[in-house]
Amino acid sequence: MSVEISNRLEKDEKLRRMLLPHCRLKAGDIWSDPAGQHLIGCGDAADLDFVKKIHSKAPSPTLAIQDPPYNLVFGKKLPVSEFIEWCRKWILICHSVLAKNSALYIWLGADQNNHFQPLPQFMSMMSETDFTSRSFITMRNQRGYGTQQNWMATRQELLYYTMGKPKFKVCYTAIPKVLKGYYKEIAGQITENIERSKSPNIRAGNVWIDIQQVFYRMEENVNGCYAQKPIKSIERIVESSSSAGETVTDFFAHSGTTLVACEKLGRRCVTIDLDPIFAEICIRRLERFRATGKTGWQLGHPFEKELRKTNQISDNIQLTSVNRRSSVT
Ligand SMILES: C[S@@+](CC[C@H](N)C(=O)[O-])C[C@H]1O[C@@H](n2cnc3c(N)ncnc32)[C@H](O)[C@@H]1O
Repeated sequence: MSVEISNRLEKDEKLRRMLLPHCRLKAGDIWSDPAGQHLIGCGDAADLDFVKKIHSKAPSPTLAIQDPPYNLVFGKKLPVSEFIEWCRKWILICHSVLAKNSALYIWLGADQNNHFQPLPQFMSMMSETDFTSRSFITMRNQRGYGTQQNWMATRQELLYYTMGKPKFKVCYTAIPKVLKGYYKEIAGQITENIERSKSPNIRAGNVWIDIQQVFYRMEENVNGCYAQKPIKSIERIVESSSSAGETVTDFFAHSGTTLVACEKLGRRCVTIDLDPIFAEICIRRLERFRATGKTGWQLGHPFEKELRKTNQISDNIQLTSVNRRSSVT
């Protein structure tokens, strides 16, 4: 390890030690929303007892939205077979807490330089469970990565499964329909497709091109988080696959995007993160949204007050390092 990296890790560890006492939850704790709506837990998604305990405090979820770390568990890169066995564990736990008729969405990466792992292995593991596969959604990022020798990588994969017969509501984008000319005779009248449509806009379908990925200038940006999903993407899932008042679960909370989407749409959210710092960020994000209507910190930071006290707010490297070191993805 270079001296530079080892100094950096030491600094990160110092920063974590500084932030941890300001976190309300430690491993095994559950925060109950004073407004009686949501539950936030600090614990392991693969710990059956903990997951059962937090879910015993709310009606069974009709929707699960899972965004696990990709091929990494507890900060360690795992061989794909071990990663899949770990996924099988929390998927079965998820199955055990979901309502009889429910939906499950999983965000999962695919390494194009390594036979797209772990996506095919994950799909194969899911075929051995009681979930039914329903859709393979792609969300397009605006910024991508890659070289001049390959297609720029701009996609995020989202798998949709169901159990029993959950409800599904068709969602429309804000993109107007422009294609005309699909004529059909209805009650003796020749009608054109836009006349027959339920909406003047196009359906979301399984390729989402209308969602802006989160970047630091956006109001919903949460500094200190490295894998935030756009609220709009989670709202789309919540609106399609749950009803007002129902419970939605998310075992990998991170910045609390599912929590904020549920708060906005009147669902109850049960969410868990292994890391006390992310569990605290979730609580603070909800409190901030309720107090100010703001969904993130944009150029600020969830631990701004604490960081200012030690003059660390001006040190951008240290701010971003909170996420890198504390990340287990
Ligand atoms: C990819 S992020 C989730 C991003 C989230 N959807 C958002 O929009 O902010 C994965 C999160 O899972 C958490 N995590 C990793 N392993 C976990 C485990 N075994 N149990 C619970 N949470 C875990 C990490 O701390 C990280 O915050």
